Amino acid sequence: MIGNSGANFSRRLKDFPSSPIRKLVKYADEAKKRGKEVYHLNIGQPDIPAPDYALKNFAYRIPEVVAYTHSYGLEDLRRLWAEYYKDIGIDIDYSNLVVTTGGSEAIMFALFSIADFGDNAIVFEPVYTNYLGFAEFCGVELRAYPLDVRNGFHFDNLNGMEKLVDSKTRAIIVVNPNNPTGVVLSREEVELIVEFARRHNLWIIADEVYKEFVFEGDFVSFLSTGYEKVIVVDSLSKLFSMCGARVGALVSHVREILEGVLKLGQARLCPPLLGQLLAIEVFKDKDSYRKYLKQVKDEYRLRRDVVWQESEGSSEIKIYKKPEGAFYVVAALDVENAEEFAKWMLTDFDRDGRTVMVAPAAGFYVSDRGKDEVRIAYVLNSDKLRNAIKILKEGVRVYKNRG
Ligand SMILES: Cc1ncc(COP(=O)(O)O)c(C=O)c1O
Repeated sequence: MIGNSGANFSRRLKDFPSSPIRKLVKYADEAKKRGKEVYHLNIGQPDIPAPDYALKNFAYRIPEVVAYTHSYGLEDLRRLWAEYYKDIGIDIDYSNLVVTTGGSEAIMFALFSIADFGDNAIVFEPVYTNYLGFAEFCGVELRAYPLDVRNGFHFDNLNGMEKLVDSKTRAIIVVNPNNPTGVVLSREEVELIVEFARRHNLWIIADEVYKEFVFEGDFVSFLSTGYEKVIVVDSLSKLFSMCGARVGALVSHVREILEGVLKLGQARLCPPLLGQLLAIEVFKDKDSYRKYLKQVKDEYRLRRDVVWQESEGSSEIKIYKKPEGAFYVVAALDVENAEEFAKWMLTDFDRDGRTVMVAPAAGFYVSDRGKDEVRIAYVLNSDKLRNAIKILKEGVRVYKNRG
């Protein structure tokens, strides 16, 4: 155990943000030790199995030598993945797609490729919390463009965004469909962003890892807008419920980015072979993966509806607009400090031995907004989810009236 060793470690390590998703885990563990059941609505780990047809075939594909692959990933996978893109109406060549170790690595590669230490990038807040960490890694300052829970985090103009731009502004980061808000950008919103980026010659880093989970409206990829300076982050973690396989991708039309990313890719050698082999099995059978994606999307839509119905009209949990995609929503709670409340739910509250863990939304904000909000990930089946939202509402009531 290293205690007062006097070890010097970096300011960056000290300042690195802790994940709001995992921050309260120790309280959940203690609650479980006390015999409570904890409904986890805090983390985007789906309970849905990966495609079984792919898992079965994959077992026979594991080679004797578990070797490195090309730093860009296996060409077979890149070709199949590019086919998938063509299928959803986005025309890319396999050479436009680089396989990464999860979408997480694609985010880092994207930021590293377009920004130097001390540069900045604009994010819509709330934003997927790990962007705060990735920006810290790359020495990039995030500048927040505030969206409002009461508008369901949508916008009809980008007034005020100009003020965030200076000579060091390199990019706008957009997550669509959104984690944590569940928003799917309308075509008009996408066009507003493209127009702004064009005017200021900015990159758009578009994180589209939830693109298959759109319940209302159409998904518009930034790759199909005709704007060149786009880097898309993709991932199979959520799409095919294979988070642990660590397979993501970076996609761009810009050759220099792809060539530069090869150097980054070579520095970390390669993305995981086994995850890539599983991904090949998934993509090889188009009929099966289409069927799978439809079922999964229907399931998430059902769950979205449960969260919406259970919170509708409630004064304890306010969701102002039905989220259109992904499997998250940000709700305003009738408490002042949602983090304190979320902790209290684990330490002090249960109903018939059950309680709920949510992610305080403040950690998804760059600024100090969002203190009364939480992110709910609907990664449990409908029955559990219904029960969890009921417990959460009751928790808010009891919390407010406690002595
Ligand atoms: C918006 C978004 N982007 C990227 C990721 C990264 O996922 P992975 O590295 O598992 O592909 C996640 C994971 O939750 C996410 O929600």
